[in-house]
Parts: sequence; C-alpha cells; structure tokens
Amino acid sequence: MTVNVVPATAESIAAAADLLAEGGLVAFPTETVYGLGGDATRERTVARIFAAKGRPRFNPLIVHLAPGMPAEEIAIMDERAQRIAARFWPGALTLVLARAPGCPIALLASAGLDTVALRMPAHPVAQALLKKVRIPIAAPSANPSGRLSPTEARHVVDLLGEKVDLILDGGKCPGGLESTVLDLSVPEARILRPGLVTAEEIAAVLGAPVAIAQAAAALTDRGGAGEIISDEEIKSPGMLASHYAPKKPLRLGAEAAAPGEAFLAFGPNPPRSILASLNLSPTGDLVEAAANLFAYLHRLDASQAHTIAVMPIPEIGIGAAINDRLRRAAAPRP
Ligand code: TXA
Ligand code: MG
Repeated sequence: MTVNVVPATAESIAAAADLLAEGGLVAFPTETVYGLGGDATRERTVARIFAAKGRPRFNPLIVHLAPGMPAEEIAIMDERAQRIAARFWPGALTLVLARAPGCPIALLASAGLDTVALRMPAHPVAQALLKKVRIPIAAPSANPSGRLSPTEARHVVDLLGEKVDLILDGGKCPGGLESTVLDLSVPEARILRPGLVTAEEIAAVLGAPVAIAQAAAALTDRGGAGEIISDEEIKSPGMLASHYAPKKPLRLGAEAAAPGEAFLAFGPNPPRSILASLNLSPTGDLVEAAANLFAYLHRLDASQAHTIAVMPIPEIGIGAAINDRLRRAAAPRP
C-alpha cells in the first residue's frame, strides 16, 4: 500500500467528500493543525479514528461543522453559546456543550460523556470539504495519541501514513496550535485547553472572567489498564499532563544550548547550537512563534541532538498557549 496524499483542489476535495460519505478517513488542513476526519454519526468510523491514533477511548473527539449547519440539532446552544459562536465561529475555538436530545453524533465521539465538542473551522479547504459532504465530521489532530500535532501534510504522511485513506495537502496550517477548548456545559465557563483564541478575548464577550483549568499533573495520555481515572479527569482529558511530545526530551527555559542539545530560540540574536538551531520568531512575534512551534519541534526531533533546549517564551496572550504545549511536551512520559 502507498500513502495517498494529493494537493487540495476542487476535484480532490470532491473525492475526499465521497470517501467521508462512505465511512472513510480523510486528513485535511484547518487553520490550527491537520485533522483526521471521519463521519461523526457512524460509530464504526469513529472507532477507526480511535484505532488509527491509538487514542484512549476515554478521550472524546471534536466534531467539525460547515458554516450553515445547524449546531442546535447536535448540542444545546443556550444564549451564552450563541453569543460565543457568533463572535468566534468560524475559527480556532471549540465549544464543549451538552448533547441535544436526539443528537446524531456517535456516542463514542463523546467518549461516554453527555457533552459534545463542536467547532466550525475557518480554513478554506476544511470549509469546502465540510460544505461538500454536509455531515458532521469528527476530526482529532492527525497524529498518534500523545505525539506532536501535524501542521504540514508531510507530518501526517510521516505520522499516520497508510492508516488514512486520503491526505489533502493544503500547505502549512496558518495557526499552528490546536483550537482553544471552552467548556460551556457548566455554569462557570472554563478553558480546558488554551489556544489561539485567548481567555481575555472570551472574557470580553462573556462579560466575566474565564478560568483556565490546570493540567492534571500526575496523569498521562495512556489510560493504561488499572489506571484509575476520576470523573473530573475524564471531564477534560485534553488536560492530561504528558501530551504533544516529540521523541527527544525537552529542556525548557534554556538560555543557551548545552553540548549535544538542539536549540529552539525566540527573539533577536539568540545563541546557537552547533547541532541544530531554529528561531520561532526572530522579531519576538508570538503569533509567528505559535505557527512555527510544532513544525520546528518536528524538525529538531529529527536532528542528531539528544535533547531539545527551548528558550523562555513570555506568558502573554498566545504565549500562554505556546507554554501550555511546551510544558506538556516536557512532562514526564509514561
Ligand atoms: O485545532 C483543533 O482543535 C484540531 C483540529 C483538527 O480541529 N483538533 C484537535 O482535536 O486538536 P483533538 O481530538 O486532538 O483534541 C480535542 C480536545 C481534547 O483535548 C479532548 O479531550 C477535548 O478536546 N474534548 C473533546 N470533546 C470533549 C468533551 N466532550 N469534553 C471535554 N473535552 C473534550
Ligand atoms: Mg490532539
């Protein structure tokens, strides 16, 4: 078998929509990262997504909708949810909401919870595909569970390869970090995963501050046999401490590379490693740094170094989401 990767064109998008309608798996670009998509209403297809990723069954998937598709048939869209969706959709924000009565989404996609995560992506290829197929598409990031998310089609080729029926190549994802996950299924809205849409922007629309749930320190993404997982931990599986990990260990807050280390810099005139150095943003632009983060980690992970040393990133705006991913990538592995 060969890996089926094609440039995203009107023709290949139509072919991808046919594959999805038949229960196939299609990887496609979004403005955040590449997603591994399948028909969210079919339990069997959703099970194939879990299998392809090696994802623990307790970790639910995000369901993607085209503009114009009625979210209220899937989830309970109260006034607060409608206001947030009107402001941030289409875009890099996922809403966790109570499943509507008669919700057509596979129970497996919700991983046993009575909630469902919904997102309406802004990327033109994602939108064209969703409009063509006109069914809700479950799409986690197109990487094996616990590994770095893909921001380019070739990352998906390397990470999942033949496990996907078709990979639509739409170039680099402009955002580079997964969407912000906002839990609106509880009275006090809270962020389960920081992302490109910041807590400040959400608070401004809600007219109230938004808490950011902290990662469960001792947990891992594996959920291995015998591991006890409480309801509260299942509620926000994206908070699992070890996640988004390259193969090499990470050393955070580094001012310079030690011998044998690759160096991931941020800002003007950084020190360099003789092995491998990349700069997330020479001008110190956090948006540019977010867009480059996973692609550069993928590259340094392929270098000769034993460790990736990472310079400090300011904890301002999108910097909070970048640091969230870096801390998880550096967390102890199972
Ligand atoms: O940017 C993104 O969100 C990408 C693109 C492809 O859309 N997708 C993505 O999906 O990152 P995934 O499955 O890798 O991450 C989904 C996150 C996980 O942290 C999961 O635990 C959380 O959303 N999630 C999904 N459904 C949930 C639910 N019902 N309750 C709480 N958390 C949920
Ligand atoms: Mg993921």
